[in-house]
Amino acid sequence: MKTRLDFQKMKENNEKITMVTAYDYPTAKLAQQAGIDMLLVGDSLGMVVLGYDSTIPVTVEDMIHHGKAVTRGGNETFVVVDMPFMTYHVSVEATVPQAKRIFQETGAQALKLEGADQVILDSIKALATGGIPVVGHLGLTPQSVHMLGGYKVQGKSKQTAKQLLEDARKVEAAGAIAVVLECVPKQLAALIAKDISIPVIGIGAGADVDGQVLVFHDISRYGVDRLPKFAVSYADLNETITNVFSTYRENVKNSIFPNDDQSFTMDEAALPKLGE
Ligand code: KIV
Ligand code: NA
Repeated sequence: MKTRLDFQKMKENNEKITMVTAYDYPTAKLAQQAGIDMLLVGDSLGMVVLGYDSTIPVTVEDMIHHGKAVTRGGNETFVVVDMPFMTYHVSVEATVPQAKRIFQETGAQALKLEGADQVILDSIKALATGGIPVVGHLGLTPQSVHMLGGYKVQGKSKQTAKQLLEDARKVEAAGAIAVVLECVPKQLAALIAKDISIPVIGIGAGADVDGQVLVFHDISRYGVDRLPKFAVSYADLNETITNVFSTYRENVKNSIFPNDDQSFTMDEAALPKLGE
């Protein structure tokens, strides 16, 4: 299994880090087979798997339930699990037991925390000290969507760009092993990746960062209708899966399925006779 040291080396050697979300056993297993470097059990789970309209309703229980499936399927891959909404924002004392639970019960290799407020920086430091590697998440931080006023590109003005650079430095100084940078102009993302020494994994942050992360349901067009501007899809599972269901349905309706190959037989003599 690759470790944080391998990711650090990849940054230094200009070798891109590939990360994708996974929420269950088969997806994790297939991503691992394809050689993906890092799996993210994102709280995007709430939207793409559980059908909520934001990540806010996602609970610690949800993250543990799905995180365990992912570490079983991706047993040789570095797995990062998101801490969900409002589980790390009040105090370090309140954060630590939640983080401990998620980390121990999922068997993940790191947790991800959004933001760079003082409580979060202190939590990153406390978790790192206790042996829980933390990945930061800056720029568009979806758990704060209502504070941000929507899913918007972050850091476009002189002042917010400077703030974002400073936040990235603070997250690094607090002891994070990497940082996800979401929906940030590519020039600013490139500058941050150059400035800080931990890997910067971009999503909607252009190509000049140390790695990329995307949501599995976006890259495979699985249950999602519209892709965000920064995403790309390499398959259309909506079409593939709908075809599977309609073919199955038609074959059952028309008695094409099951045929003899798919049926069991017995000695006719052993068959009870009706009406006896
Ligand atoms: O929850 C998620 O999928 C994420 C990625 C978009 C980075 O946090
Ligand atoms: Na997330």
